[in-house]
Amino acid sequence: MAACKGRKPSLPCEREVWGKKGIPAPSFGDPMASHRSARGGGKPRPRSPILLLAASVLAVALFWVFSSSQISSAPGAASATAKLGSEEDGSDGLERKYLYWGNRVDCPGKHCDSCEGLGHQESSLRCALEEAMFLNRVFVMPSRMCINPIHNKKGILRKSADGNPEERHALGVRLWAASSCAMDSLYDFLLMSKTVPVILDNSKMWHRVVSTSMKLGERGLVNVQGISRVDLKEDEPYSNVLLINRTASPLSWFMECKDRNNRSSIMLPYSFLPKMAAKNLRDAADKIKSLLGDYDAIHVRRGDKIKTRKDRFGVERTLHPHLERDTRPEFIQQRIAKWIPPGRTLFIASNERTPGFFSPLSASYKLAYASNYSHILDPVIENNYQLFMIERLILMGANTFVRTFNEDGTDLSLTDDPKKNTKSWQIPVYTMDGEES
Ligand SMILES: *[C@@H]1O[C@H](CO)[C@@H](O)[C@H](O)[C@H]1NC(C)=O
Ligand SMILES: *[C@@H]1O[C@H](CO)[C@@H](O)[C@H](O)[C@H]1NC(C)=O
Ligand SMILES: *[C@@H]1O[C@H](CO)[C@@H](O)[C@H](O)[C@H]1NC(C)=O
Repeated sequence: MAACKGRKPSLPCEREVWGKKGIPAPSFGDPMASHRSARGGGKPRPRSPILLLAASVLAVALFWVFSSSQISSAPGAASATAKLGSEEDGSDGLERKYLYWGNRVDCPGKHCDSCEGLGHQESSLRCALEEAMFLNRVFVMPSRMCINPIHNKKGILRKSADGNPEERHALGVRLWAASSCAMDSLYDFLLMSKTVPVILDNSKMWHRVVSTSMKLGERGLVNVQGISRVDLKEDEPYSNVLLINRTASPLSWFMECKDRNNRSSIMLPYSFLPKMAAKNLRDAADKIKSLLGDYDAIHVRRGDKIKTRKDRFGVERTLHPHLERDTRPEFIQQRIAKWIPPGRTLFIASNERTPGFFSPLSASYKLAYASNYSHILDPVIENNYQLFMIERLILMGANTFVRTFNEDGTDLSLTDDPKKNTKSWQIPVYTMDGEES
């Protein structure tokens, strides 16, 4: 990861991090530099007529090379392809229009060498997918997702938390140091395409869109930044172009959606991407759910969230003053008793790393963790994002589910502290005394 430090935040960094596997996405950024010899007319807007001519000739030639393999197949079956994001029925897919936001989800400025956790990146993906839906365009999905090394490390520690030593070995010794993973190891794009058509940016279809957009010139490609989705939908230079290339906020893709407080304009619920998990992840979750039978679940966020820091008088302060207390087993027990009767099977997902931390709850409940199912998870899981996606599906399938924080006002939660608090550092409360109610 440190390899990217001090580099320009654009392609060189991504090449190193992403380029190791798979076909690199076609480069638009500097076509004259590396793609000229390989791709001929790689420049979207040549400046001189001679270049333009040469570029068009090459582009047309390339177009024929690309499409000649398709000629023999039925031209009538056109639209199903792009709709499902598959490339098997031989259509050229060019009757659809495309939306591209770049080749990685969130590359926040100079912090391009790292990235946020899965939930954060999903907020960004949802924002981009909603725009594609709104514009009735196929979304061009980055083919890889960055994995935050901190989240991955927590995963390893979490796995050993309640497992016996053999499980620790089986689940802990893994290639979890990976800095990115294939997007299709996380999501099922055929399933997703039933709601929002999607192609990957390492697919043949994408290469075809790219080469065609160059051939078409201004009707082929438009680069936009900071233009509202309504304008993109209705205004002439954008509404009919084959490919819209949006440069999203350098902070985070989801910043593009932050002004949409009009709820009726939100098209995809939070649960959309969790439900789009890749088939092998959904299958693993289903197996575990059927072994659990009739179960309840809690998600206990400790680790990252219970951090304290000293103020200038040396007093410890935290953003979530009751969280450390409310996520300890004796307080959990007291809190959830009114929702989850004793004797129930309770599935616990947590980033707490102390072995046996939740064991006191076994006085009331039959406890289960992901580590109980290592025989199912081990063959499937290659990184912590996949584990998290399976755990999420298990949590969603619980009869009663208690979150750590009350996120939308109606959730059952372990604590009343708000999840979002970035300013008010308070003195943590560890005892029942001083509690409001
Ligand atoms: C999209 O636009 C950005 C900024 O203009 C550019 O750097 C990038 O190469 C473009 N990508 C595509 C696919 O056109
Ligand atoms: C919210 O969005 C809907 C649909 O886009 C629109 O009809 C409605 O007028 C908007 N409401 C406000 C308060 O902007
Ligand atoms: C899960 O494993 C723990 C030991 O790590 C054990 O106490 C518990 O009974 C197991 N739960 C199930 C449902 O097998």
